[in-house]
Amino acid sequence: MNIAIVGTGHVGLVTGACFADLGNRVLCMDHDQTKIQLLQKGNIPFFEPGLAELIQKNIKQKRLFFSTQMKDAVKFGKVVFLCVGTPPRSTGEADLSAIENVCEQIANHLTQYRLIVEKSTVPVETGAQLKKRIKQSVRRQVSFDVASNSEFLREGSAVQDFFKPDRIVLGVENERSRRILLELYKPFNVPIVVTNVEGGELIKHACNSFLAAKISFVNLVSQVCEKVGADIEKVAEGVGSDRRIGRAFLNAGIGYGGSCFPKDVQAFIKICEKLEVDANFLKGVERINESQKKRFVEKVHRAMRGVKGKTLGVLGLAFKPDTDDMRCAPSVDILTELKQAGAKIIAYDPQAMEAAKVMLNDVSYAKTPYEVCKGADALLILTEWREFRELDLKQIKKLLKHPIIIDGRNIYDPIVPKRMGFQYYSIGRKGFK
Ligand code: UDX
Repeated sequence: MNIAIVGTGHVGLVTGACFADLGNRVLCMDHDQTKIQLLQKGNIPFFEPGLAELIQKNIKQKRLFFSTQMKDAVKFGKVVFLCVGTPPRSTGEADLSAIENVCEQIANHLTQYRLIVEKSTVPVETGAQLKKRIKQSVRRQVSFDVASNSEFLREGSAVQDFFKPDRIVLGVENERSRRILLELYKPFNVPIVVTNVEGGELIKHACNSFLAAKISFVNLVSQVCEKVGADIEKVAEGVGSDRRIGRAFLNAGIGYGGSCFPKDVQAFIKICEKLEVDANFLKGVERINESQKKRFVEKVHRAMRGVKGKTLGVLGLAFKPDTDDMRCAPSVDILTELKQAGAKIIAYDPQAMEAAKVMLNDVSYAKTPYEVCKGADALLILTEWREFRELDLKQIKKLLKHPIIIDGRNIYDPIVPKRMGFQYYSIGRKGFK
């Protein structure tokens, strides 16, 4: 099938490259000329494991094309996926201006039936608004449909998540749209949830908000663990062993970040408020997430007996491992507060330092994880990159001015650093709070 992708960010590029790899012909469109030129050479402007290779392979096999022209996209793709950003406004509501603008452009080029599919996360009832807007702008009586087909891609494992989804969600308004999308997703052997457009839109916000709630719940429990001397790792294991709950997304730490959870929880709060539905549960999820970061800063102050004039070595800046993404990364709030309290920061992250330089000023950056330890008064762990678990703690102890590790992602078994003479602090673990 011929597919058009509008917007070449994380979601658009992964969706386009993967659909091409399944044998479809895909044209990815973006108004950013520089980005399109980069993509035509097979390069991508962000780190996502396996994506660059997939793009290069499918360009070579003439299944993946790029353009800056909406006209090309609408002419080429029977299905047009909307993959443009829906960032939060200052009020927390999703800013739909980009997706509305794109729909007007699509309407201006509609000359034959097209199925326009929301791939980006949008507030429920957006589909109905887009349909109205296209109807107003479309030149002649050309038929089109709008559908919702949310992605559940995680940064750092997006390609794998595309090919091995837990389920596919189709929000359709009629049989014709249903048939087209079922045809497109034929190669997938997973449950396909078919519902109306509103249902399709709602599933994504509900899913992300529930995952964020799981994280805030385990962080709340970690705060209780620190008070009563329980071990959050064991408590999470005990809770997560209940098949109805599941162990995933019950890892206590410094809270969730990224371009999705913070934005989607906020947007869902606004949706509930607009619909006069009680949003306090979701506000609680947000509040706990903020308190987890603040409590980590307090932990650092406690461990260091104040940070003024001290040097803190920091391992990990990205909002999670296997990505270079710093959007809403907990490290930004945490390090900003510690700098304001007079600490000097030297940081290392395998992928995110370039992105961090834009968001974190007056922070020094190191070339290796060991370099951040040289002469530092303490070592902070803010992102659980696999390589940090393999570090030589003996060498780290020699390099640090004081043997203090404050582990915001519980990457070490507390007994190990303790046996080596470190003062080891972590999240929700008895004796190491
Ligand atoms: C999320 C959803 O998982 C994905 O389905 C959706 O399509 C987009 O949003 P993503 O934001 O890429 O994906 O990252 P995710 O792996 O979900 O982690 C989000 C945040 O939660 C990260 O900051 C991570 O560190 C944190 N997290 C995750 C925890 O603190 N504890 C956990 O147990 C899991």
